[in-house]
Amino acid sequence: MLIRKPLLAGVTENDVTPQHLYLDRRKIMAVGGAFALTGLTSACSAQEPSADMAPRTMGGELNFSETAYRVTDGDLTPHDAVTGYNNFYEFGTGKSDPARYAEAMTTDPWSVQVDGHAERTGTFAVEDLVDFNALEERIYRLRCVEAWSMVIPWIGVPLSSVLERFRPTSDARYVAFETYTNRSEMRGVRFPVLDWPYREGLRMDEAMHPLTLMAVGLYGEVLPNQNGAPMRLVVPWKYGFKSIKSISRIRFVADEPQTSWKQSAPREYGFYSNVNPNRSHPRWSQSSERIIGEGPFARRDTQMFNGYDEVASLYSDLDLEENY
Ligand code: MTE
Repeated sequence: MLIRKPLLAGVTENDVTPQHLYLDRRKIMAVGGAFALTGLTSACSAQEPSADMAPRTMGGELNFSETAYRVTDGDLTPHDAVTGYNNFYEFGTGKSDPARYAEAMTTDPWSVQVDGHAERTGTFAVEDLVDFNALEERIYRLRCVEAWSMVIPWIGVPLSSVLERFRPTSDARYVAFETYTNRSEMRGVRFPVLDWPYREGLRMDEAMHPLTLMAVGLYGEVLPNQNGAPMRLVVPWKYGFKSIKSISRIRFVADEPQTSWKQSAPREYGFYSNVNPNRSHPRWSQSSERIIGEGPFARRDTQMFNGYDEVASLYSDLDLEENY
């Protein structure tokens, strides 16, 4: 995030997957998902996919249903830009480093440690956290603090459905997340760019908000490693860095948890990090953003909360200039 590189480094026009091909396929998959939900499957697929049949390897296709949560004012960002222009500092600070190096990360098996103020804690597999029979697609805009944005067809479940499984107690006012760290698989963590592991946190009401997604896929497929396999957050009204990737620990805590970017540069990155065109980053304006995948000059005005006005009530008691 501290390093600025030319747009779409390593991605050429020829790499871009035509969106109509995806959209056609998406229609078919959504219909398949609806059949599974209503039990109208044919004899050969009568058995509902069970959790352990969930595809886990990169490129595996997911069954999902569509929801009403979708951006309407913008085209989908081409698949190859979504998977080729990434921030995942554990694999390097260059935008093309994650696509180049994240394959080295083992995502199956994957365990997540859950601890803190909850009735149920312990170590769990991804399938214990996410109901793969209840996946939905949500087309959200992800707006990075670096003033660029993408519109991505994510697949996942509401984060609330994951957290409720652990029955957090009333002492759990925040939830903290950590990313998996492995020096032999993640070349970026050999350098002290951040104090590893990557850490993020949400207030409990933000975490339980229906817009907050635990994503396991995008563009109809299992998440590519560079996008945060096997599961990552998508918090669409906050700057992209709140959407922590490859989660390996979830902690229910009483006090505001430390987060990586706030710890690294508290003057630049706060705990809340709500998209706010009126509050500039100390080194650049946040009033507009480059649209990734639409050429070097395509821009749009940044909207408060990234356009997700329904979250405004969460912050009615908060000064968003101070609590950035
Ligand atoms: N999660 C981890 N573990 N490490 C990171 O470096 N980068 C963040 C966020 N999650 C990051 C992370 C930032 S700055 C952004 S903009 C988004 O991931 C980018 O997500 P994408 O690559 O899926 O577009």
